Amino acid sequence: MDHNVLITGASRGIGFALARQYLAEGSRVVATARNTGGDDLLALQQQYRDQIELLTLDVTSAQAIALIQKTLGKQPLHLLINNAGLYTSGDDSMDMLDSDTWLNEIRVNTIAPFMVTRALRPNLAATGHATVAMISSKMGSLSENQSGGAYSYRSSKAALNAVTRSLAHDLACNSISVVALHPGWVRTDMGGPQAPLETTASAIALKSLLDKVGPDDNGKFFDYTGVQIPW
Ligand SMILES: NC(=O)c1ccc[n+]([C@@H]2O[C@H](COP(=O)([O-])OP(=O)(O)OC[C@H]3O[C@@H](n4cnc5c(N)ncnc54)[C@H](OP(=O)(O)O)[C@@H]3O)[C@@H](O)[C@H]2O)c1
Repeated sequence: MDHNVLITGASRGIGFALARQYLAEGSRVVATARNTGGDDLLALQQQYRDQIELLTLDVTSAQAIALIQKTLGKQPLHLLINNAGLYTSGDDSMDMLDSDTWLNEIRVNTIAPFMVTRALRPNLAATGHATVAMISSKMGSLSENQSGGAYSYRSSKAALNAVTRSLAHDLACNSISVVALHPGWVRTDMGGPQAPLETTASAIALKSLLDKVGPDDNGKFFDYTGVQIPW
């Protein structure tokens, strides 16, 4: 099967589980991370030598994005998963939040997915039917906000959803579908030990959803079970 996927933030958590799942099901995976030398990614490289490419990418670095673009050249991409994310929990309450924390989250969660997508547009367009998945969060839904707080994270993901909607319009001419996805509450460093969902379960569900995404889904916001989330 000819199916090329690029994942950001593949060093751990949901990004790593997605990389492992796509490899297990036969895709070629460009796994990008700030540090590609971690044990988990190196073990994956050992296991899937012919299917995986590890590339260094800090998604907030314009130089690093330009280097990825150069390294990939004209390699077609069927799927881009903008997964890398930041949640500075504990520091984003009304009393504690400072502007640097907020700006950092906006850089990673909102601006970087746009920059990476824009840079890789030719690679996605080359396939004639590509998908961009923005790993967003239910916490970015305005209508689902029933508890307040988390100002920086919520607003960065709400803004990512707005980016998703604009890209969905602007990339439709290249037959690229853009969707925002909530991966569930997942047991990772970010989700914490109380989260009910394991990374593998989330990755399997997200993959099965993405396998079915097409032009009719362009610009929509789904949770990992395929249910649409109101903005
Ligand atoms: N876990 C949940 O319950 C949950 C719920 C809703 C949405 N999400 C979203 O799901 C995505 C993955 O979250 P997770 O739970 O797997 O979080 P995680 O375990 O904290 O992992 C975050 C990942 O993002 C990477 N990252 C952070 N800043 C980066 C940067 N500047 N450049 C490149 N990579 C960067 C991290 O890389 P390093 O290893 O280099 O730090 C790591 O690979 C995020 O977008 C998150 O907002 C998670």
